[in-house]
Amino acid sequence: MKILPHRTFCGEFAIPGDKSITHRAIMFNAAARGRAEITGALLGEDCLSTAECMRALGARVEVRGGAVCVEGTEKFRDASLYCGNSGTTMRLLMGLAAGRAINACFTGDPSLSGRPMERVAAPLRLLGADITTENGKPPVTLRAAPLHGADVKISVASAQVKSAILLAGLGARGETSVEEPFRSRDHTERMLAAMGADVRVSGNTVRIAPCVLHAEDVTVPADISSAAYFMALGALLGETVCKNVGVNPTRTGILRAFSRMNVQYALENERTVCGEPVADIRVKKSALRALTLTREDIPSLVDELPLIAVLCAFAEGESVISGAEELRVKESDRIRTTAEMLSAVGADCTATPDGFVIRGRERLAGGNIRSYKDHRIAMSGAVALTASDGGGEIADAECVDISFPGFYEYLRRG
Ligand code: S3P
Repeated sequence: MKILPHRTFCGEFAIPGDKSITHRAIMFNAAARGRAEITGALLGEDCLSTAECMRALGARVEVRGGAVCVEGTEKFRDASLYCGNSGTTMRLLMGLAAGRAINACFTGDPSLSGRPMERVAAPLRLLGADITTENGKPPVTLRAAPLHGADVKISVASAQVKSAILLAGLGARGETSVEEPFRSRDHTERMLAAMGADVRVSGNTVRIAPCVLHAEDVTVPADISSAAYFMALGALLGETVCKNVGVNPTRTGILRAFSRMNVQYALENERTVCGEPVADIRVKKSALRALTLTREDIPSLVDELPLIAVLCAFAEGESVISGAEELRVKESDRIRTTAEMLSAVGADCTATPDGFVIRGRERLAGGNIRSYKDHRIAMSGAVALTASDGGGEIADAECVDISFPGFYEYLRRG
């Protein structure tokens, strides 16, 4: 994909639905009693992997017009579950399937097959699950076993791991709790509570009691992680408004980073939709200042870090991002692939074991980028090239379909 430089970038954007909320709306309703309609769902490849897995387990999931209609099943059948590129699909389903005491095998594409799964399997064993990985990675094999509640402390702040344990807890005997070092996104807690589960949050600990879920219609807000690319283009090149964006505080670390970088932004039309805070986000061209991020900042902006690194490349001064070693085990090693992408466009970025040091420049020359088939590297690279002097090409550019189908058409409209 060839990306041409823009001197200005302005516009109003209806960004596709939130990936995390869409996964959960499909998965939880497919495991619930009754039918539900999900509007505004993201129909990207990752969420379609979840839909396919839920069909394999015995639920009905249909895309009708723009909506996803789900008819749940209280009893899962044994299944072979291909999760594509989607870590959320595999990790959440490991927990949900363990709680349903079925036999299942979980596989994924080459990227997912290299990602750590013991972080989910090990806590599930504490609840009695019979689950194995291959050297910590997929394929994952689950054998039917009854679960009992347990109090689990996890060492990484991860919504995927926390959610897997809570979903297993739904089908366990007795209560289950999960304690994280920092709070990760809480869409699971909100949606399970809306579907009738007894979920209690206290500090960094979430408790859940076993129960049968009731289907619940969901209206999915736009994904702040996808809106972020167009928010960044507003900050670099003009003015943008992203409509109906989910602004759950466990996801708005990028807005707190914006404040620290002197990005001029405003939330408009703030409201609550299906238990999630939503707003329109307006961002104006700003003189960016360098940013420092440390470990506790990371969970609420983990998916935005490659893009934040691009903004730092245009900011005045030296930015230091640390405590972000989780990036090493995302769809690619995002510390390496982000640093390589930034160097390719002419930025001054040094990778560290747990983050980056970036010395900002007023202008970047542009150049050709390898995405390593990682959607967030391709889109962050596209933002860097749009704001660069010369533009450039992105290899394996179609991987954006994982989370943002139509991304390049949106880019053309600015
Ligand atoms: C997700 C949680 C995050 C995020 C991923 C989606 C989720 O992962 O990176 O894109 O939907 O729960 P971790 O919380 O495991 O880091």
